[in-house]
Amino acid sequence: MKLNLPKYVLAATLIAIGCSTAKQDMVSVKEKQLPIDRKVDSVLNLMTLEEKIGQMNQYNGFWNVTGPAPKDGDAAVKYEHIKKGWVGSMLNVRGVKDVRALQKIAVEESRLGIPVLFGYDVIHGYKTISPIPLAEAASWDMEAIENSAAIAAAESAASGLNWTFAPMVDVTRDARWGRVMEGSGEDTYLGSAIAVARVKGFQGDLGEFNVAACVKHFAGYGFAEAGKDYNTVDVNRSTLHNIIPPPFKAAADAGALTFMNSFNDVDGIPATGNTYLQREVLKKDWNFQGFVVSDWGSMGEMVNHGYAKDLKQAAEFAANAGSDMDMESHGYVMYLAQLVKEGKVSEDKINDAARRILRVKFQLGLFDNPYKYCDEVREKATVGKKEFHDGVLDMAKKSIVLLKNENNLLPLKKQGQKIAVIGALANDKTSPLGSWRIGADDGTAISVMEGLSQYKGNELVYAKGADVALGTPAFTVETKINMTDKSGFEEAVNAAKNADVVVMVLGEHGLQTGEGRSRVNLGLPGVQQELLETVYKANPNIVLVLTNGRPLEIVWADGNIPAIVEAWHLGTESGNAIAQVLYGDYNPSGKLPMSFPRTVGQMPLYYNHKSTGRPYYNGGNSVFWSHYTDESNEALYPFGYGLSYSSFEYNNLKLSNNTLNQNGKITVSVDVKNTSNVNGKEVVQLYLRDLFGSVTRPVRELKGFELVSINAGETKTVSFEIDEKTIEFYTANNKWEAEPGDFKVFVGGDSKASLEAGFTYSK
Ligand code: BGC
Repeated sequence: MKLNLPKYVLAATLIAIGCSTAKQDMVSVKEKQLPIDRKVDSVLNLMTLEEKIGQMNQYNGFWNVTGPAPKDGDAAVKYEHIKKGWVGSMLNVRGVKDVRALQKIAVEESRLGIPVLFGYDVIHGYKTISPIPLAEAASWDMEAIENSAAIAAAESAASGLNWTFAPMVDVTRDARWGRVMEGSGEDTYLGSAIAVARVKGFQGDLGEFNVAACVKHFAGYGFAEAGKDYNTVDVNRSTLHNIIPPPFKAAADAGALTFMNSFNDVDGIPATGNTYLQREVLKKDWNFQGFVVSDWGSMGEMVNHGYAKDLKQAAEFAANAGSDMDMESHGYVMYLAQLVKEGKVSEDKINDAARRILRVKFQLGLFDNPYKYCDEVREKATVGKKEFHDGVLDMAKKSIVLLKNENNLLPLKKQGQKIAVIGALANDKTSPLGSWRIGADDGTAISVMEGLSQYKGNELVYAKGADVALGTPAFTVETKINMTDKSGFEEAVNAAKNADVVVMVLGEHGLQTGEGRSRVNLGLPGVQQELLETVYKANPNIVLVLTNGRPLEIVWADGNIPAIVEAWHLGTESGNAIAQVLYGDYNPSGKLPMSFPRTVGQMPLYYNHKSTGRPYYNGGNSVFWSHYTDESNEALYPFGYGLSYSSFEYNNLKLSNNTLNQNGKITVSVDVKNTSNVNGKEVVQLYLRDLFGSVTRPVRELKGFELVSINAGETKTVSFEIDEKTIEFYTANNKWEAEPGDFKVFVGGDSKASLEAGFTYSK
């Protein structure tokens, strides 16, 4: 009898269920009933050591599959490795045609035919691009964020991919670091909620429109010293436990299938070779069953770190530390079998890593159908769908933060206005896509000009004014020229003079943030600040639209420009979203997920800092307190801040009880009134301060938030619950627990919330 099952399924199944060939017609049915771990073990039993190690090997795309098979060099070696079953995963191969062609080699030409995982950086959309993750975080809207991740998953899954290297959940406190655009900002609580939303959005029920998530970068990468990418991470015990891990833990608990470790060292041990992080915390304490992939070349980089003496030793350290898959260091494929034979890495560890990787392949259904993601008809019907454009537009509008709106300059009038639109970024169809959108084509975003042009009642005049410093690396000759050219100023001034309102779109180009794009200056790049000040002299009636991937230093603008809109890099529908907000067809409700500094010298800047022993000004001429002599300690715009066309008033903060006992709870309620005549949404935020602890505690910490719609004139009562879990932290006892003591409660519309109450917790 001929069965239509691939040989690997058949063989694995027969072993797993103890079937004889005479029972072949039972196979298909029983195969589906077996628990995944038995299937995994049955496959593992068939594998040689080299094949198991092969699962731990990931290669970058190396060959244009539409051309002939590679015959020499590295490409030929990689090609042979796929045929031998020595490649567990590929990255940067995408599109059904290419994925299918490579999968076919793995499945049909290797001895066991184990399918390959295809990974790609789908960070904020594949072709239809949603706002950069930092912008999405500003929405505080978990449903919208989950939906955005689901759109990204659907498009990538339709394009042959089954694994995204997202979400990035690194807490980030230093805007100099270019990768702040990729995460959820400075807060652990908000970051955890978003991590869960993204994992759910990507993975869904692991159907054909879902992909495996990869939570990264484990751990501490966001604390790169002085914001310089790849730099050393030097964090204290409290930060290492209370601040960095919670979003990772939340993502693991939400069922994320994979993790990625990171480039940096933590307390002197590179994350890729860090046993404590990967084996103790992630796999043991958190019971994570998925696998850990290294970051690109991070295993080999342990040599540069001065931790491993050569690649072979790096492979030994990484494997022993629980880094299951090697992304492009080639250390496992070259040395791991030898290391096992020399007794330096146990075969148990190899089995564990291979088992974890195979399990994910089973969970994704790749053993049932290695071509599950390879349907050209579906690809065509899915990528770029209208409903995806609607989805990313919705997300983009929700991500915008209104920073200032003096004299209600916004929303703009829809009729009879002459509007000067100034700035290179206003007419840019690529920059809004932001960094890390490698699947999307340049020029596919709606520009601000295009968005504003939808409104026909006003006259628009465009002037570039100045270029944004473009390009990467940052210091090219070209960049320097672009950074100093003021020849467009005159045209901009003339346009402004003749206009009722000026809309200036300034900020960073999409590629001025992201990996490797750290900056020491956080002002507007190039001559944009000068352009702003020059135009202001001609016409101060300016709406400044910022498009950027990190908090910027905009003190002058805050002091002079009447209306400021933070529009980040909003993706494919950027210009439409901005226009709808400027014209009031959408009432903004975004709140900053990162503090905006007054000066770069305040970095790292974050609202949940510690109190220190000298937090206050003591009066008189005292300088002996924790402060700067030339700048305030405060952020220009604090974490959680954002305005709306509505205005909200907070009253009646009430606690159901002033004492909290073990297993008890307190209900916190507050009345929020929309005092304007416009319906709107407000993110109501709850902060706690633990007044003393076995280790020093932050001045306040976000512990709850709710995005509520409140109609004009309406009052809504918003409630939060506080229990023991809410006040737990990693104490001096080296565990998470609630410590007895006194707590303050603050509720309001940002991290400066001033309504205050208190309670005492006792066991
Ligand atoms: C980045 C990762 C990314 C990987 C693969 C690395 O440089 O740090 O975040 O997933 O490349 O592209």
